[in-house]
Amino acid sequence: HLAPREPEPGFSFNGPFGRFDKAQLQRGFQVYKEVCSNCHSLHFVAFRDLAALGYSEAEVKAIAKDWATKAKTFDPKTGETGERDNTPADHFPMVYYAGTGSPPDLSLITKARHEGPEYVYSLLTGYQDQPAELLKKFPDAKTPDGLFYNPYFANLNIAMPAPLADDQVTYGDGTKATKEQMSADVAAFLAWTAEPKMEKRKQTGWAVLAFLLAATVLAYLAKRNVWAKVH
Ligand code: HEM
Repeated sequence: HLAPREPEPGFSFNGPFGRFDKAQLQRGFQVYKEVCSNCHSLHFVAFRDLAALGYSEAEVKAIAKDWATKAKTFDPKTGETGERDNTPADHFPMVYYAGTGSPPDLSLITKARHEGPEYVYSLLTGYQDQPAELLKKFPDAKTPDGLFYNPYFANLNIAMPAPLADDQVTYGDGTKATKEQMSADVAAFLAWTAEPKMEKRKQTGWAVLAFLLAATVLAYLAKRNVWAKVH
């Protein structure tokens, strides 16, 4: 299968100085909410974590309350089960999927796959007809009914139907919702869910390097001092 590729002009969070683009993360969350969450859960993320994307407390509350899949309740005394609105402290509810295949939880998907964000972007934009010359050479490799050909998926035939088409969502910030744009945005959002403290980690890395450099200079000067009288 094909190696994943980066969207143009690249992800803002890659590289040693990489930062998340909050506007992009919000757009990616919108794509998750309106499209992916019909099939995929995001169970390691709590609604209140969304505050890091720049949403206010009131907005987070409203997002949780209005979430289509309600929180499940269970009363251990009576054994009764029920439903209630989500609160900011709740994690995104589990999604029950009745179709073929089993959609994985997406919280950590960008860590579970090599070059995760690039992979998600490539997978979402990579749906295509099976190449005729491939079929001619290997007729048995024909994509079975109910599966979809995608050269970025490890076994080439995936149970997920192409989830995105141009203008599937309407962005509040006026960004044009091309398939590529939505794919890049949701891939960035999923990079954030998998590593929300990425910026902190990179900043700490620079502080560690600065400290090590200073310690090395000191050690060198100390060495010169200690050995100064030895010829
Ligand atoms: C698998 C992402 C929407 C159904 C996957 C995988 C990813 C993904 C990354 C894992 C591929 C792998 O194992 O390497 C997304 C994103 C979506 C989205 C970002 C929204 C833009 C949907 C929707 C459905 C769906 C709407 C249902 C109609 C599935 C299924 C699988 C899957 C069934 C398992 C495929 C298999 O193992 O063959 N998706 N998905 N996905 N997705 Fe989605």
